Amino acid sequence: MGPHFPPMAQINLSDVREKTLDNLTMNHNTSIASPSKEVRLTQNAALTSLVLLIVLCLAWEWSWAPLKPGGSWLALKALPLVFAVPGLLRRRLYTYRWLSLVVWLYFIEGVVRAYSDTGDQARLATLETTLSVLLFMACAGHVRARFKASLLATETSPSPDTPNTPNTSTSSQAQLTRPQAQQLIDQLKSIVGQEHVLMAPLDLSAYEQDWRKRAQGRALCVVRPALTAEVSQVVRACASFGVSIVPQGGNTGLVVGSIPDESGEQVLLSMQRMKAIRAVHTDNLSIEVEAGCVLAQLQEAALQAGLFFPLSLGSEGSCTIGGNLSTNAGGTQVLRYGNARDLCLGLEVVLANGEVWNGLSGLRKDNTGYDLKNLFIGSEGTLGIITAASLKLFPKPKSTLTAWAALEDLQGCVKLLGLAHEKLGAGLSGFEVMNQYSLGLVQKHFPALQAPFQEFPWCALLELSDNESTEHAQTQLIELLELAMEQGIVKNATVAENLTKAAQLWHIRESITLAQAQEGLNIKHDISLSASSIPAFVAQTERELCDLIPGVRLVNFGHLGDGNLHYNVQSPMQMDSAQFLRDFEQKVNDVVHRNVFALGGSISAEHGIGSLKVDTLPFYKDPQALSLMRRIKESLDPQLTLNPGRVIRMSDPSLDRP
Ligand code: FAD
Ligand code: MLT
Ligand code: ZN
Repeated sequence: MGPHFPPMAQINLSDVREKTLDNLTMNHNTSIASPSKEVRLTQNAALTSLVLLIVLCLAWEWSWAPLKPGGSWLALKALPLVFAVPGLLRRRLYTYRWLSLVVWLYFIEGVVRAYSDTGDQARLATLETTLSVLLFMACAGHVRARFKASLLATETSPSPDTPNTPNTSTSSQAQLTRPQAQQLIDQLKSIVGQEHVLMAPLDLSAYEQDWRKRAQGRALCVVRPALTAEVSQVVRACASFGVSIVPQGGNTGLVVGSIPDESGEQVLLSMQRMKAIRAVHTDNLSIEVEAGCVLAQLQEAALQAGLFFPLSLGSEGSCTIGGNLSTNAGGTQVLRYGNARDLCLGLEVVLANGEVWNGLSGLRKDNTGYDLKNLFIGSEGTLGIITAASLKLFPKPKSTLTAWAALEDLQGCVKLLGLAHEKLGAGLSGFEVMNQYSLGLVQKHFPALQAPFQEFPWCALLELSDNESTEHAQTQLIELLELAMEQGIVKNATVAENLTKAAQLWHIRESITLAQAQEGLNIKHDISLSASSIPAFVAQTERELCDLIPGVRLVNFGHLGDGNLHYNVQSPMQMDSAQFLRDFEQKVNDVVHRNVFALGGSISAEHGIGSLKVDTLPFYKDPQALSLMRRIKESLDPQLTLNPGRVIRMSDPSLDRP
């Protein structure tokens, strides 16, 4: 029996349902926790409905259909049915995708034949269309009701065995009726203007997928306010409907924190239009900017004023200062200037109830109570919406020199770091390391970017920022490298002779992330340890991973100067990367995180928690700290509408430890 294609919105809902149910199915395939009763009932109900649908389609075709088997319509309709069967057998609900295609085909056939055929044939075609509509609606309604019930029962206890598939669903969210959703959308349009509430699927798609293509959500709409007052009204309106908000800056985050979940009921608040530089205070060495200001534009504004804003990331052409503060971003200058938190003097924040906190004082010293700005920095949009910031600026160094050194091993890199601290002192502003495999990936995907010294397993990129002169800087840097070579630490080295050459070297380093993305889906880690523990960590982890996955490719690079390594893992050459993630992501994460934990490190140095690590965090964070985090979340966002499902879940604290 062929169902009628439903109105557009209904197709969307079934798509969403399918994705979420697929996630549930996947989770429960590998989780030690057995699926809840509701989830099992949902799976069964959905699958029974699908099987029923297929049986009815076949019965219709062979018994009553106006078309005889073998017709071209039949072949067209049979194809998606064939594709649906493997999904059904594996209990995967992506089957809906194929069946919705069948729905369309039946509908088109019914309509075409009702007009082109005559007599009984035409009547049967009309009947076919009508029956298909009815059956589809019955099935969709049935599955949807069960699905909603199952969502409430889905918050399973976190477990290190739960796969790291981003589970962005949240049970705290209000379920809007269509009229309520329309009412909210109308209010949002009246606040920001009709053209700044985006709803068309094509307009939404870029906001709904994360940078790494690890997850895809579905928003009720995207709202693009231009003023703090508008953000405040948007938050108030959403709060009055109990609708959750996901703030988004440049959407370059790497832990799936800035896209909506799959419910289609969250409002995505884009800060893109709030990008003004409000003031540059050269005498106070500070700058006040709106949260949506792109980092590169902020750096440029500082330079225009003869000053320097040091935060520097590979994503600086797209990421926003609001996103940088919300993730407490690090980057390549942390060694000397600190991370985003250290660069912030004050914030303006819209709170969960729409109130505005103006903490933009710009003071460098202020001990009048709790340091509120530091609650919001690094909170990934779960405690408030940052709308503006006051930030530190610095005098521009007189000379900045970059060197590239080749080394035999990581132990050598750590020794070089120690020597660089000793010889360059505060002038050392960057110290990055890269293994040869990561540089090879850059060359493979961007052949113009050839790294020097390809015959050595490790390379280090050093930056010296000097306040005397270029000559002084050169002397210092060359002396350091000569000493390191004499001591056998460095095997070869080059100092960039001008800024263009230096930029090329940095470009190679910053292209690793992109090259890795081109190579396929991968498992990323962003760990921190004391720099001296990193070689032992890498040796142990590499041994375990190579035993676990013969042929596994290790893409290691990062900010050794901060004890921060991106210990990334790519599938063996011949293995499909999606399959690799399904089979090994959790196992790899377990090995890496366990080893980091054993050495007293952190599972997230600079990227944050997002939804990618939200269920892992409880195993590696002090329970008292988790409990305090929950209390802070509850008091600042009692309705739990700000970016729910990110950073911390509100579940029973006793579930946090196995
Ligand atoms: P988004 O991705 O839009 O959002 C990130 C989080 O902040 C989300 O939880 C979101 O809800 C929240 N958020 C965004 N804006 C606001 C706001 N105004 N108020 C409240 N919450 C908000 N990160 C590093 O730390 N170091 C690096 O070296 C680095 N290099 C990168 C290189 C590449 C090529 C890429 C793609 C990413 C890199 N990142 C790095 C990660 C990313 O760029 C940073 O996390 C960045 O700070 C995110 O900024 P964004 O504006 O894109 O934020
Ligand atoms: C970097 O250091 O390049 C970033 O943190 C991005 C990444 O980890 O890939
Ligand atoms: Zn990094």
